[in-house]
Amino acid sequence: PSLEKDFLPLYYGWFLSKKSSENLRKTGKAFLDELGSLKVFKKESKYFLPAEDPKVKLDLTSYFVKRPPSVLHCTTKFTDFGKAMGADEYAQQEVVKASYGKAFTLTISALFLTTKTAGARVELSEQELLLWPGDVDKILPTDNLPKGSRAHITLGCASGIEPVQTGIDLLEFVKLEKAGTKDDEIEEIGGGKLQYFGNGMWMLLLSKKIEVKAIFSGYYG
Ligand code: 2AM
Repeated sequence: PSLEKDFLPLYYGWFLSKKSSENLRKTGKAFLDELGSLKVFKKESKYFLPAEDPKVKLDLTSYFVKRPPSVLHCTTKFTDFGKAMGADEYAQQEVVKASYGKAFTLTISALFLTTKTAGARVELSEQELLLWPGDVDKILPTDNLPKGSRAHITLGCASGIEPVQTGIDLLEFVKLEKAGTKDDEIEEIGGGKLQYFGNGMWMLLLSKKIEVKAIFSGYYG
């Protein structure tokens, strides 16, 4: 019956420092630029081009036209001001309250893109996993993926796509990884190993993981 119950945020998550955020945006843009210029990508670029005008020049940065307006973040729990399922339970956990306003280091292990979204894959530490909800790492109720599989930072969405899609797309990659259905034709590029999963789904496994500083907090909109 505390007053705080009436003030659950839109979502909880880790918010990158201004500097980390700017650096990651740059890294993401460099990846899109490089990928867009690769032969292997161009061969498969039909997924990103309008069927009626497949000859148009593709610029991936403008393709992912919806970019997060402020500092980048990694959502833990979407609480929808308390309306989302499990919102209260999440907010009331001791670890959530104790971590609020505390700084963390997030590790980014890969960058990925699909025809809908572009994002960074986050590898959570043991301590960070304590803040991860138990019910978000599945698309289908029967999915059984490791905790934290969905952890990501949205870098951009294609026109008409909502940001919630980035996490769903990452879960799709993880399911394909598990099924072992990625292309053998792996290419080494600047930042690491490029993998193709078909249907316009690309992932760059970073040879040097990126660490970003982030504060755990709530976003009220
Ligand atoms: P994102 O974490 O993939 O970027 C505000 O809309 C934020 O909450 C966005 O960052 C968005 O996605 C996330 N979000 C929106 N709806 C969501 C949902 N139903 N489940 C999980 N995250 C959601």
